[in-house]
Order: sequence, then C-alpha cells, then structure tokens
Amino acid sequence: ARPKDLAGVRVAVTAGPTQESLDPVRYLTNHSTGKMGYALARAAAMRGAEVTLIHGETALQPVKFTTDVPVTTAQQMYEAVTSHFAQTDVLIMAAAVADYRPAVVANDKIKKKDGDMSIPLERTPDILGTIGPQKTHQFLCGFSMETRDLVENSSAKLTKKNLDMVVANNLKVAGAGFGVDTNVVTLITPDGARELPLMSKADVADAILDEILKRRTT
Ligand code: C5P
Repeated sequence: ARPKDLAGVRVAVTAGPTQESLDPVRYLTNHSTGKMGYALARAAAMRGAEVTLIHGETALQPVKFTTDVPVTTAQQMYEAVTSHFAQTDVLIMAAAVADYRPAVVANDKIKKKDGDMSIPLERTPDILGTIGPQKTHQFLCGFSMETRDLVENSSAKLTKKNLDMVVANNLKVAGAGFGVDTNVVTLITPDGARELPLMSKADVADAILDEILKRRTT
C-alpha cells in the first residue's frame, strides 16, 4: 500500500462529461466516461487526501471516502469548482467540459421539419481559464486531449490558463483516452514534458499525484 503522503491535503477533482440541453429531450455531450478522474479521486483518498469529486453524469460507482458533488452542465461545474476553490489545495480538472452549449434551451421538444437545420451555440465558461488567474496557494492541474501537436498545444494551455501542470493525452494513441482502463500521458510542467509509458489509469493517477507532491511548495 501507498504511504499516506497526502494526509491533510485538500484535493478537488473534476471528472466526466458535461451535458448541455437543447430541449427537454436532447443534449450535447462527449465520450468521457469519468474513469481517469475517478481513478485520481480514489488514489488521492487512499493516500490520505480530503477529496471532493465534482463530476458530470457517469456510470461509475461513487468513490468511497470522498465528498461527492454531482453536476450536469458546464455552468454547474463552474459554480461547484468556484465555490470550493478557497478550500482547495490541489485542483485537478480531468473533466471533459463542453466548450459550447445551445444558445437557447427550448421549453418544448423541437419538432422536425423538412430540410436541414442548424443549432446556434454559445461558449460555456472556461473554468480553468477563469480560475487560473485567481489562484493563490492552489496547485492547478489541467488535462489536455489533442489529436495533433500534443506537446505544443498542451504547453500553450499551461501559460494561457496559469496552470502548474498539464496532463496531455493523444487520442490517437492505442490504449489512451476515452473509455479504456489504460492511458498514455505526457506530464507538462514549466520544466518540460515527460511522457509516461502505457499504464493503468490507477497507476497514471498515482504518477500524477507523485509529480504534484514533488512540485507543491505549500
Ligand atoms: O483548452 P482546453 O479546453 O483544451 O483545456 C482543457 C482543460 O481545461 C481541461 O483540464 C478541462 O477540464 C478544462 N476546461 C475548463 N472549462 C472549459 C473547458 C475545459 O476548465 N469550459
């Protein structure tokens, strides 16, 4: 078993997809299952951290010994993260937050008509982008999923969102990304990029927490 090397550390983890309603029947979402974020919450709790797991809709069992905060939309996740932020030492944003939502949510089911249709979308709040510039003592870890130029695109997020670390994964690598129990990630910090081998999401979670522990100053 791991030592309780995160005892007393308040860790907030976000996980899973958001759902953005279009009408009472339909919503926009993505392929996130929440597995990586749940693995992080579980690993942090096992290492003694006080864990808050803020998550969208998933099919996963709640993680024992964590505070469970279920949300549905990007806006609700934004509010949950913001309200916990002052009491958080480490924020890990593993959630796949929608970047856009339908500009209008219809009260009634939208009826089909002849011909094509299009849906006007508006931006959702960028949770990390908003909170990054406000950080005081917090360690901020973001995730980055890309299909090309992984390190370049992910390093840009580090600076742009004022993060301490970005966990980057290339969706096109076998054994990485959505739904599977393994992942291949690159840890990006101001010191550079380090690619980890193919590992279970449980082991990736511990490796991420090891790196955070090493880098945290307070
Ligand atoms: O810029 P990009 O969306 O690729 O950055 C991904 C990171 O930002 C992830 O950690 C994700 O959880 C977070 N994010 C966010 N708010 C959004 C979209 C993404 O905090 N609206």
